[in-house]
Amino acid sequence: MGAAVSSPQKMAAAREKLIVALDFATPREAEALVTGLGDTVSFYKIGLELAYGGGLPFAQDLIRDGKQVFLDLKLHDIPATVSRACAQVAGSGARFLTVHAFPQTMTAAKLAAAGSSLRILGVTVLTSCDDRDLADAGYAYGVRDLVSRRASQACEAGIDGLILSAEEASIIRASVGSKMILVTPGIRQEGSTAADQKRTTTPAAAIAAGADYLVVGRPVTQAKNPRETAAAIVTEIACALGTR
Ligand code: C5P
Repeated sequence: MGAAVSSPQKMAAAREKLIVALDFATPREAEALVTGLGDTVSFYKIGLELAYGGGLPFAQDLIRDGKQVFLDLKLHDIPATVSRACAQVAGSGARFLTVHAFPQTMTAAKLAAAGSSLRILGVTVLTSCDDRDLADAGYAYGVRDLVSRRASQACEAGIDGLILSAEEASIIRASVGSKMILVTPGIRQEGSTAADQKRTTTPAAAIAAGADYLVVGRPVTQAKNPRETAAAIVTEIACALGTR
């Protein structure tokens, strides 16, 4: 497998599917990574750590520089609060915003984002959780059943996409159809460490399972050479797109 077997169009399509998670404490550290990655990466995720450390104004800088931004704020509150928070984000130019996939939360977010270019993604079950974690938290469902249930509730709420592990993506793709955006974190190249993630998949397997976007954090941010690692992931995605 190598870049030579993928057409320039496949490589361009692959590049758009990689979302790098900027899990840093400060915009200064995030900016250093973004600069180092250059044209290799065009889509960035800002999560809770960076958002609480000045990441929201930094998101505006990224958008001004022509990057796509995913605000992974994982909102969950009463509908009025979720709705007002989503309305604040709707005009920001961010492409994706996450809410937890609870029916009233998804409905409130969808209504607030209507008419904007913001796409609402529902977090089904965190990729750091397995069946035992769900039982500990008091759920009667295992991961698969809870992801399925939340996916059908997401369809009813009319939201745009789902965050799930690639382990569930192919089953969910078959039930939600091609329009629902499927975003898969928990991505690990062959042989890299899982850390706190429990439902991990390689980039190629995630694409084969029907993922539209892959979120990759530590494998890139902690790499010796982040640009080379990101480029290798893009190449793996491009090869997998060739067989999909
Ligand atoms: O470093 P790693 O690749 O594990 O990072 C995954 C990223 O995806 C983190 O920013 C994490 O917050 C996010 N995420 C996740 N599982 C979800 C939703 C988001 O790992 N279900």
